[in-house]
Amino acid sequence: MAGGAFASQGPAKNYGGNVTFFVLISCIVASTGGLIFGYDLGISGGVTAMDPFLSKFFPSVYHKVHNASAHETAYCKFDSQLLTLFTSSLYLAALVASFLASSTTRLFGRKMSMSIGGIIFLFGSILNGIANNVAALIIGRLLLGAGVGFANQSVPLYLSEMAPAHLRGALSIGFQMAITIGILAANLVNYGTNKIDEGYGWRISLALAGVPALIMTLGALVLPDTPNSLFERGKKDNAMKILKKIRGTDNVDEEYQDLVEASEAAAKVQHPWKNILQRKYRPQLVIGILIPMFQQLTGINVIMFYAPVLFKTIGFGDDASLMAAVITGSVNVAATVVSIVSVDRFGRRALFLEGGIQMVICEFVVGIVIALQFGSTGVGSFSKGYADLVLILICIYVAAFAWSWGPLGWLVPSEIYPLEIRSAGQAINVAVNMFFTFVIGQVFLTMLCHMKFGLFFFFGSWGVLMTIFIYIFLPETRNIPIEEISGVFKKHWFWGRYIPDDAVIGHQHHNQSA
Ligand code: BGC
Repeated sequence: MAGGAFASQGPAKNYGGNVTFFVLISCIVASTGGLIFGYDLGISGGVTAMDPFLSKFFPSVYHKVHNASAHETAYCKFDSQLLTLFTSSLYLAALVASFLASSTTRLFGRKMSMSIGGIIFLFGSILNGIANNVAALIIGRLLLGAGVGFANQSVPLYLSEMAPAHLRGALSIGFQMAITIGILAANLVNYGTNKIDEGYGWRISLALAGVPALIMTLGALVLPDTPNSLFERGKKDNAMKILKKIRGTDNVDEEYQDLVEASEAAAKVQHPWKNILQRKYRPQLVIGILIPMFQQLTGINVIMFYAPVLFKTIGFGDDASLMAAVITGSVNVAATVVSIVSVDRFGRRALFLEGGIQMVICEFVVGIVIALQFGSTGVGSFSKGYADLVLILICIYVAAFAWSWGPLGWLVPSEIYPLEIRSAGQAINVAVNMFFTFVIGQVFLTMLCHMKFGLFFFFGSWGVLMTIFIYIFLPETRNIPIEEISGVFKKHWFWGRYIPDDAVIGHQHHNQSA
């Protein structure tokens, strides 16, 4: 992680206290939750492109890829619902699990959900590694998905509650950083295991998912829970103790007071699921649903899941396709660092807008290049120069995503909800994200087959829409203490009408000081 990110910046409400070593370690360990998610995102595409795996589990796809007759278009080679189910079933399970995780996280704490997630995940990776039929593969993927659901629901919350306000963005992006490292690790593992001549490389690829799961499970056992969660569960003394410890000072009264106010308001809310529908939470709910949906409609997972397949389609060889995935994976990690150092400095909006525009341009250009080479028949071939051009454009696109919608797609929804509905809100965030991840994973290869190069225009158009949405409707949340976020919506020209005065926590002492 970039150390520079932790320098103090901006006019945040600073409660005092520092970023302690303790808080850093906790956040780094919690971020391994992102590793397991990333590893899954990155592993299936490469495995899918491996011949021994294809011929064992999906022989019909294997024959199609290898005996492409003249009338078989390049766009449709990999089109198989069962094959995509292998990739996408995980996200469906994650969706369901995130709702179970929401109550676990609220009633038993953030770290409990992390441990549960890690253990289920571990079983999934073992089953996948020893699978001998498609059913075992898919059941394994479902278990992995349940693990991811628990982790993705609890880890972002954990991080945003541990971090001091002025560094919340940077520390929370630790989660995204871990996702990208997980993806890159998967790309590298695939590149290596593909070289195993005996053809069992895919087993190693799939089973290695157990490693990050083990780290997270063990990590969660030793981490402290967040002060917010301890307080919410009635462990007030402990909450104070942990707050002092993570801030490295005894002078935490003001932050504690805000936390108490937020928790007391939260305690009055018995039914977060019903409450989240109240009018005063409408702005958060709308943004909290649209952001994860838009994040997936950037089309990023077309690249993350299917980069090797895509590169194979445009004519890269086996090895080169897996290498291309390693390249995009590396760009993804490197560009995430950019967001860590800039998110609390330039703010969320600036990154969203710049990244959005950069992605849209790349998507349209890639669409045009593919259209010129393959046309709508899908018959034709890419010259080396054009194939490289596509790779470069995809790298620029991935970089843009990695410093905008990637991290912010998780950060912003996790920091906009008031405490009383935060776990429910986060579950919605994960569920919507997983739902659209599932949809894209499931239909992409079919969409490629039918929409052809138009697919890139499709995602590009969504990019235009979401960038406009951010410009008009997303208030800046940089440097705002998480307990005071309602006030930001209150001041927004559109959302303000939804927020009654008394919903703004801390508004009294603001009035007094005004
Ligand atoms: C997204 C994933 C995506 C990853 C790429 C995450 O924020 O949720 O769907 O694959 O970024 O780095």
